[in-house]
Amino acid sequence: MTHEDASSPAASSLARPVSGANLPDGMQRAAAFAPINIALSKYWGKRDYERNLPLAPSVSVCIAELGTLTIVAPNLDLDGNVMLINDKPADQKALVRVGRVMRSVRALAGTEVRAGVRAVNTVPTAQGLASSASAFAALARAATAAYGVGLDDGALSGIARLGSGSACRSVHGGFVLWQRGERDDGSDSLAEQIATPEDWPLRAVIVHIGEGPKKTPSGEGMRLSADTSPFFSAFIDTCFRDVPECLGAIASRDFERLGEVSEANCLAMHATMLATRPGLIYWQAATVEVMHTVRRLRAVGVAAFFTIDAGPSVVVLCEAGAVDGVCTAIGGIPGVVKLTRTRVGGGAHLVPHG
Ligand code: DP6
Repeated sequence: MTHEDASSPAASSLARPVSGANLPDGMQRAAAFAPINIALSKYWGKRDYERNLPLAPSVSVCIAELGTLTIVAPNLDLDGNVMLINDKPADQKALVRVGRVMRSVRALAGTEVRAGVRAVNTVPTAQGLASSASAFAALARAATAAYGVGLDDGALSGIARLGSGSACRSVHGGFVLWQRGERDDGSDSLAEQIATPEDWPLRAVIVHIGEGPKKTPSGEGMRLSADTSPFFSAFIDTCFRDVPECLGAIASRDFERLGEVSEANCLAMHATMLATRPGLIYWQAATVEVMHTVRRLRAVGVAAFFTIDAGPSVVVLCEAGAVDGVCTAIGGIPGVVKLTRTRVGGGAHLVPHG
């Protein structure tokens, strides 16, 4: 197995043009953008930690505008992949995950040629805003194009999943179901689109809340919850009930029902996290205040609900007419750093590059 080394000389190779004349046919530099996604019924528990196979299915929405732009440049001079994230060399943990994605793309392409990878996030990392989901969906889309591998979006989601489980849901846009799958090799644990952004053009307000003490990364947190949280298996059972309820609410465009099941599922995941030893407390004071505020708004007829991943930031999903009221009510809460008004958006796609 090749060691993917951040300190290899080749970080600079990203700036160098690829010697296209020498690259095998079909290989070229490619760039892709992928959005973050937020789960409505969450993924918190794996049946396979290497392949990121979940214990339960999950449902998500892609969020427009926020995400990761990634360029993949195959390069015959490299003997290992190199990667810059926001212009800094990727750390060893990120390189291991990138290596899994790139190995599978190389195997499909039947080549040993390595690549320089450059990723730029338009969303802060480690705030619970799924930057790893957008990063690996963008990598899968750009790398398959760069190596000339043609896959449908379902198969592409399986490649993105190798980097980060939730990344498979950022390949498709709109409302997405990630199947648990039964096979050990993960070939049936793929994501599929269940409704487009145009089918149900919901709005989203991203409530950025600054990071407190260093958080436990999702994969590590899931392992700890599985080993120690008394609520873990109850949460997994809950997901098997919540996913069909989410799908039903999406199919009938029933906002109230979607809000009810999504908030309940989010809080059940956080209850599982809180009961882990040591307790995984991802919330800040502002996180809790935002939840109360959204519920107060809803009590007076504002169509909005919240959901939170493994971090302090909150995503408020709402109908178009509710956006102004939500922003006014939440904007003044101490600890809220920024609000981003956005909407349910499209999935990973190739973009022109220089
Ligand atoms: C709380 O996909 O980041 O956001 O597969 O280990 O990379 P890995 O985990 P990751 O976990 C996401 C957890 C979550 C819930 C969700 O997105 O469903």
